[in-house]
Amino acid sequence: MIDFEKFAKYSKPGPRYTSYPTALEFNERFNADSYIQALNKNTDLPLSLYVHLPFCKSACYFCGCSVIYTSKEDKKQEYIKYLKKEILLLKKYVDVNKEVLQFHFGGGTPTFYDAKSLEIVLKSIRDVFVNFSENAEISCEVDPRYFNEDQMKVLRDYGFNRLSFGVQDFDNDVQQAVHRFQSFDLVQSAVDLAKRYGIECINFDLIYGLPKQNLDSFKKTLDSVLRIKPTRLAVFNYAHVPWIKKTMRKIDENELPSPAVKLSIFEYTINYLTSNGYKMIGMDHFALENDELYKASLRGELKRNFQGYTAKKHTQTIGIGVTSIGEGHDYYVQNHKDLNEYIRCLDNGVLPIHRGLQLSNEDILRKNIIMKLMNNFRLDIKRIEQKFNINFKEHFKDELDGLREYIDLGFLKIDDNQITLSHTGGMLVRNIVMVFDEYLKKIDINNQKFSKTV
Ligand SMILES: C[S@@+](CC[C@H](N)C(=O)[O-])C[C@H]1O[C@@H](n2cnc3c(N)ncnc32)[C@H](O)[C@@H]1O
Ligand code: SF4
Repeated sequence: MIDFEKFAKYSKPGPRYTSYPTALEFNERFNADSYIQALNKNTDLPLSLYVHLPFCKSACYFCGCSVIYTSKEDKKQEYIKYLKKEILLLKKYVDVNKEVLQFHFGGGTPTFYDAKSLEIVLKSIRDVFVNFSENAEISCEVDPRYFNEDQMKVLRDYGFNRLSFGVQDFDNDVQQAVHRFQSFDLVQSAVDLAKRYGIECINFDLIYGLPKQNLDSFKKTLDSVLRIKPTRLAVFNYAHVPWIKKTMRKIDENELPSPAVKLSIFEYTINYLTSNGYKMIGMDHFALENDELYKASLRGELKRNFQGYTAKKHTQTIGIGVTSIGEGHDYYVQNHKDLNEYIRCLDNGVLPIHRGLQLSNEDILRKNIIMKLMNNFRLDIKRIEQKFNINFKEHFKDELDGLREYIDLGFLKIDDNQITLSHTGGMLVRNIVMVFDEYLKKIDINNQKFSKTV
């Protein structure tokens, strides 16, 4: 059982650890040349491809994604021209014969492009990356408000087998407060369309902590969700960072639910979903019991990359498009966020790299520990000792002292072989892994860079 009182008390601002070291450490010394060198070294891993389609028609006020708002079709088409240039340029540096295990269209709103445009991008990908695995996970983020049969046909033709729908909340008042309107019927027809074309793996994104939300309104949203019963659900804690995202300033902070209400919503969500056939995965995901993600989590083999959770092997992620992040065994790399910079580089025949990070051996060790704990809520100490040739207790003496407080509270247990988090500890995993983050010592955690855990 999760002790929600303790959970609330110990929650504090902290990184989300989609990467370790976090993006705060990425720097411009890691440039296009560094990336090319890193690609030459990281040749043993299969590939995962991420393509960012950043455009949206209008702003959802809660949105923390990397988005460009536009209604201009020529701007969207120009971007595709540059995506094609980037893909062709990558062909010079990436071993495009390597097996592709994952492909993900993210955004922004990929389905804000029409069917023909999506097909152009997909064709240029498949022309270059010729070795897609038969079992590849091929997925797309879909905004139900922009989704039609022609687009679905293209996705089917290119082997898509997973669609993730942005649902967020079905309540009218909440939708009004966040400037995103979509009815239950609209979402249901979008899902029906996907199912008619054989998509079995359907994910919904929900967010708790939005303005005007309360326990009763969210209960109704969950009831509606269960009428459709997606195979997976991501129930995100709303990350309110108006100092970074301007559109969030349109949200009236007086309308945001209190931490106590947020907790009651999340507690209810966990109980409701787990008593309706879902298993909880990581901090904020749920999957039906027969889903491969749940099976992988039981084996302690769940992985998370920038595309989300996966049960597949480790891959090297190639990020394509503005802001995209790539990742290999010992580096992270990020493309320019600024569209003009991105275009300028490609016009000059240069990979559009903005920044990145070369990981040291110590970074790789800590990344392994942090990711294992984040994803599986447990760590096999012996395996880490063998893999990195260290004595865990000596190497992490200070960190183990730092964990003492959490052990005393019952959030985790440590013996010679394993670190295991309790259910409440799992909810606080971000705080717990912060103990292993060497870089946090250098920064002020309360300087509003990070969102709060509750
Ligand atoms: C790129 S969007 C999904 C695709 C599409 N644009 C849509 O909205 O339907 C990715 C997801 O991130 C989540 N998200 C966006 N901003 C967030 C925030 N500030 N806090 C928590 N989750 C957020 C939303 O659930 C959203 O569905
Ligand atoms: S939530 Fe999706 S549709 Fe809304 S602004 Fe963000 S990326 Fe665009």
